[in-house]
Amino acid sequence: MQSNRVVVITGAAGGIGAVLVARFLANGDTVIATDLSEQALDRLRDGFDSDAALVTVAADLSGEDGNAALAAAIREHADRVDVLINCAGWFPITSFEDIEPEEWRRVIDVNLTGTYLTTRALLPLMKENGWGRIVNFGSGSFFDGTRFQAHYVAAKAGVIGFTRSLSREVGDWGITVNVIAPGLTVTEPVRRTFPQEVLEAQRAGRALKRDQVPEDLVGPVFFLASPDAGFITGQTINVDGGKFMT
Ligand SMILES: NC(=O)c1ccc[n+]([C@@H]2O[C@H](COP(=O)([O-])OP(=O)(O)OC[C@H]3O[C@@H](n4cnc5c(N)ncnc54)[C@H](O)[C@@H]3O)[C@@H](O)[C@H]2O)c1
Repeated sequence: MQSNRVVVITGAAGGIGAVLVARFLANGDTVIATDLSEQALDRLRDGFDSDAALVTVAADLSGEDGNAALAAAIREHADRVDVLINCAGWFPITSFEDIEPEEWRRVIDVNLTGTYLTTRALLPLMKENGWGRIVNFGSGSFFDGTRFQAHYVAAKAGVIGFTRSLSREVGDWGITVNVIAPGLTVTEPVRRTFPQEVLEAQRAGRALKRDQVPEDLVGPVFFLASPDAGFITGQTINVDGGKFMT
């Protein structure tokens, strides 16, 4: 298995991001872990040996300044990016009539525009290299049309469209772009905002009848980031224990 890659993970202090960080570090890759808050990244760092090949960068990736700062920080530590995992996201539950334009824009900015801006900022570092893997985070809510998340489902649909179009532009540079679409995964925001009945209904609706946990996403993301997945691009890989069979 290829190691010593430079792997950038956004939303790295979150439930799914943190287990991805651990997997790539264990593989001998250098991980650039980025998230909104310095404190959350410090807590992430505390979970690893002090000599781990882990660089943390606090930045708001929904805007251009944060992404420019991330690109500058990466250039200080590495001359290239091999893998970019756009995992940062925000998924509030709000009925359509209560979604104010400000919340709509923030959800689109974090989930869709952020994915575009981070890719835009880091693509030059990947293109120079002539090889690259981009893994974007979609959501099973796109297949479900989950209610009370019109802004989020629209944003994640946008991530799929973005991925498909981009894959046709970057293929000549040896870069693949794919989407991982998780089912409802038990992370802190899910524990905080989704009632037990929803988790129970999710379990019942799966071919594999248990909670989905962040670790369920690690293998599929790691595979898409590997040379083994070199002929897969523009795809959406549904990881949900067999809830939706699209
Ligand atoms: N947990 C689920 O059920 C689920 C299901 C489908 C898709 N997803 C997607 O998986 C990804 C990870 O979700 P999670 O459950 O680990 O959530 P999480 O809230 O634990 O992690 C998301 C991380 O993104 C960071 N983030 C948010 N806005 C940011 C910004 N503007 N700039 C930089 N970082 C920002 C947050 O600080 C947080 O640490 C998200 O893209 C989410 O939409 C999650």
